[in-house]
Amino acid sequence: MRAVELKGLTYTYSAKTPFEKRALDNVDLAVEEGEFVGLIGATGSGKSTLIQHLNGLVKVQQGEVIVRGMNASDKKSLKKLRFAVGMVFQYPEYQLFEDSVAKDVAFGPKNMKLDKEEVERRVRRAMEVVGLPYEEFAERSPFELSGGEKRRAAIAGVIAMEPEILVLDEPVAGLDPVGRREILSLVRKLHEEVSPTVIMVSHYMDDIAEMADRIVALKEGKIVADGTPAEVFGAREKLAAAGLALPTAARITDALAARGIELPRTIVTARELADALAAYRTARRTATPADADGEGED
Ligand SMILES: Nc1ncnc2c1ncn2[C@@H]1O[C@H](COP(=O)(O)OP(=O)(O)O)[C@@H](O)[C@H]1O
Ligand SMILES: [Mg+2]
Repeated sequence: MRAVELKGLTYTYSAKTPFEKRALDNVDLAVEEGEFVGLIGATGSGKSTLIQHLNGLVKVQQGEVIVRGMNASDKKSLKKLRFAVGMVFQYPEYQLFEDSVAKDVAFGPKNMKLDKEEVERRVRRAMEVVGLPYEEFAERSPFELSGGEKRRAAIAGVIAMEPEILVLDEPVAGLDPVGRREILSLVRKLHEEVSPTVIMVSHYMDDIAEMADRIVALKEGKIVADGTPAEVFGAREKLAAAGLALPTAARITDALAARGIELPRTIVTARELADALAAYRTARRTATPADADGEGED
């Protein structure tokens, strides 16, 4: 079953007012079950509007939104659709409100009308998965946790609903490098263990390059690129035209090329860059002495 299908999705804020703003313009997108999609695009390109369609938070105006066979325009499937899509909003910790972490994490599964034991099982599991062990954190107030812990508690509340599709809007925004690493490795783990399909919005190209199998880029409400990280970041002109940045490894690759060191332009991660550089050096070392360009051992 296809995870998500958008057909001709068009959305306008404040239609027929002086503030009218077309946020999505005829978007067609199919996401297969198990994919990890990185959604990128400049501020205002429509990323949040797009993902808010996936759980019915934004009502479909024009076009179709189908999630695991359920049509978001069909009121009867809306509730099931909401349970299928776990939404981690920007700064999700602002939505913590209960007086204990366990109660907060239990909020979603309780809403699903699961029995008490099942709610408890899910709360424990979700807290374990995000690295907030139940015994230690269940009774703590969410408000006395550190920034990174708060965010993980908020994410636990989403995954306690065991959604098939996990959608995250800028999950590392506002975190320090350590918190950022923690959340990214958590997202990877959730993709592997909890929610097979992940759609992650981020403006950190390094993170997207490392995590996503597929990148979808939006510009002014339209999809302007869709492919593997190597394909999307490899198309330098197209990327620049879309106003998008390159991951660090690709920028270094370009800087090296300017100095005569040509590496594949499909490099997008630090690992790939390191491997390509090692291969480049080996090739140079084993080159025949005949190409005497003064490039000796260093
Ligand atoms: N509630 C709203 N009312 C009016 N315009 C909005 C609203 N939310 C977003 N927009 C506009 O819609 C466009 C797309 O916004 P958004 O989906 O938030 O983009 P992104 O998440 O890529 O930054 C922007 O021009 C934004 O200003
Ligand atoms: Mg946004």
